[in-house]
Amino acid sequence: MAGGCGAGGGLPAELDGEADVFCEALRLLRIEPSAVSLGAGQEGGEAPCSRNVLRKRRRWERVLAARRRKRTQERERSRARRAENPGTAIRNGGRALASLAKERLLQARDSGPRLCIDLGMAAHMTEKETSRLASQIRRLYGANRRAEKPFWLYLTEFAEGSLIYRECLRMNDGFCNYLMDTTQESYLDLFPLDAVVYLTPDSENVLEDIDANKVYILGGLVDESIHKKLTLQRAQEQALQTARLPIREYMVKSTSSRNYHSETLAINQVFDVLSTYYTTRSWPAALTAGVSAGKGYVLPDAVK
Ligand SMILES: C[S@@+](CC[C@H](N)C(=O)[O-])C[C@H]1O[C@@H](n2cnc3c(N)ncnc32)[C@H](O)[C@@H]1O
Repeated sequence: MAGGCGAGGGLPAELDGEADVFCEALRLLRIEPSAVSLGAGQEGGEAPCSRNVLRKRRRWERVLAARRRKRTQERERSRARRAENPGTAIRNGGRALASLAKERLLQARDSGPRLCIDLGMAAHMTEKETSRLASQIRRLYGANRRAEKPFWLYLTEFAEGSLIYRECLRMNDGFCNYLMDTTQESYLDLFPLDAVVYLTPDSENVLEDIDANKVYILGGLVDESIHKKLTLQRAQEQALQTARLPIREYMVKSTSSRNYHSETLAINQVFDVLSTYYTTRSWPAALTAGVSAGKGYVLPDAVK
């Protein structure tokens, strides 16, 4: 035979259709297929396969059958594992969600909306407050990652080696991989002034809508009233527009809460309001998401 085991070369009937497998088997057994006599139709007549070759062929067929059995068993085992442990499917789903979140964040980087946490007031906080601020940044970032329509986030005046910098690294796993911009610069150096809206609970202006062309600034502060009007004064000195959340426009003071009412929220709560509003365009839904019962405000229909 002039080489090869191609079909149609006068193979015995029992080999017909298995020629490729047989050739492959021979190659793997390091026997040149051209060196093998395959019987009927071969040059020289009816010469049968040598006993040696037949033995090797049977051995190879056994190997192939064992491999097929092993593959079938593996498939059955992994099917059973998936049925018993849906966590695997969840992990795969988790990867898909992470890539969707990344895609949405990068879209927000290109087309807004943008939110900036102003860390230029660190000197007004104690170590404990700074640590709480780092946790609030983590919560805010997590909520933004899960959001259907996220914001692109900036941390400004975020000085390497500062206490807030160290606390962010210490308290927030994977902080270095957060998808956001961090800079030592001020928002004044990054954005046109007429695009900036400083959100402050003490503003006279009410935030009515979120504009993807604006940049909303949150004061990086953890305090209720000690530094009252600190961000309002800062924004006024910088001649910036300011706005407060429309809490008193949509909510009423709850009578049940120890007579304590505050419109000052933590930055992650403000973010929950902004994010829910940006997705739903409903202030009642947004305020319900961010204004906790402890603030002493409820929606009117919640008052009995
Ligand atoms: C805990 S508050 C700090 C309050 C602080 N006394 C001040 O002068 O801003 C943290 C930040 O969340 C934002 N914030 C909190 N409540 C707000 C509200 N009702 N409206 C708008 N922004 C608010 C502000 O940016 C504020 O600086």
